[in-house]
Amino acid sequence: MKNIIALILVLSILIFSCQDKTEVDQVNFDLNLEHFDYYEEDIPFLNSFFANKVKHDEIAALGRLLFYDTRLSLNNSISCASCHKQHLGFTDNKRFSEGIENYTTSRNSMTLVNNAFQISHFWEGHGGLLSDHILNPISNHIEMGMRSAEQLSEKLKSIEQYEHLFQDIFEEEISEDLIRDALTTFVGSIISYNTKFDKGIEIDFANFSLSEKNGESIFFGKGKCGHCHRGNHFAAFWRESTNIGLDLEYTDQGAGNGNFKVPTLRNIALTGPYMHDGRFETLEEVVNHYVNGIQEHPRLDWTLQNSPIDLNEEEQEDLVAFLHTLTDYDLITQEKFSNPFK
Ligand code: HEC
Ligand code: HEC
Repeated sequence: MKNIIALILVLSILIFSCQDKTEVDQVNFDLNLEHFDYYEEDIPFLNSFFANKVKHDEIAALGRLLFYDTRLSLNNSISCASCHKQHLGFTDNKRFSEGIENYTTSRNSMTLVNNAFQISHFWEGHGGLLSDHILNPISNHIEMGMRSAEQLSEKLKSIEQYEHLFQDIFEEEISEDLIRDALTTFVGSIISYNTKFDKGIEIDFANFSLSEKNGESIFFGKGKCGHCHRGNHFAAFWRESTNIGLDLEYTDQGAGNGNFKVPTLRNIALTGPYMHDGRFETLEEVVNHYVNGIQEHPRLDWTLQNSPIDLNEEEQEDLVAFLHTLTDYDLITQEKFSNPFK
């Protein structure tokens, strides 16, 4: 009899401790979030895009909480920031990222910088707006493992602080749409415009070293980089994805035919390893690919066909020096993008 009671006791402890794990803790966070300017007026790319600024700042602050909250995952272990770390330009330094229960992703984590302004999203280069895709990671079984965004809204409704915050800000009950809105508004506010390159534009690159200057002309000239990494965001401008001849036969076909998104190069010095599968450790290796490694894949982008990118060693070094001018040190230290749960 005693044994049976002991067994029941052990069993119930086991059952309760298992339940505890998935139960939502009421972690305290500061409800009076310090008011940050997420959508500052002097951001050059914004124009009148974000008209209702005050509201946007509040929604972004809420999005920041969600972004850093591990309770957005099935077992409360992973947040968006687990794989998108501020000090690494919102990537991690792994070839593949660790999601829930030690599953690993099949692709390399991507930077979130200037995402709202890009025409394609994720490595497959999905078209449309950032908001159309931002909830994908939540129900991805490897990344955060929730059954659906609907399941997430139910979970957040059981956290009193979120209930109040959503009511205060939106005057509505928590829903999938509002979670999407908050995350998009926060991620959309991660805008880099304060690099050595940006400062250089106005002063004819007088702030650049000779090597950086030379790298800049190579990037936009005979290196052909600027054909694809275009405009203010150094990202795709008109096509959603393309093939750069990494392999003759791709194991991961991306959007099909080995086509992948042209990623932004802002903060590129911080976001290695590189490419959809993180195959290159350094920027030198990346540049070496464009100069010596391009494979004649049948779907190779026309820009890279028939005329090799001919750069000697010094020119390759200059190009890498230029890529380093795209690092935004402000962005990776700004408190408004940091973990609010500290
Ligand atoms: C387990 C790691 C992991 C977690 C957690 C994670 N991500 Fe990601 N994220 C990735 C990887 C890997 C990719 C590239 C995936 C692909 O394209 O197949 C990515 C891509 C993205 C992109 C596309 C960026 C671009 O340039 O197009 C966005 C946006 C994004 N994640 C936002 C989020 C948000 C918001 C969350 C939290 C709700 C989140 N991620 C959680 C690993 C993660
Ligand atoms: C034909 C268009 C095109 C041209 C030209 C091009 N790129 Fe790319 N770039 C891409 C695409 C597409 C990817 C992603 C490929 C993948 O992962 O399969 C990429 C990836 C990169 C990456 C890795 C980004 C990351 O986040 O992992 C770097 C760095 C890079 N390119 C730099 C350059 C430089 C430097 C040049 C000029 C020598 C250049 N690119 C020329 C389209 C292009």
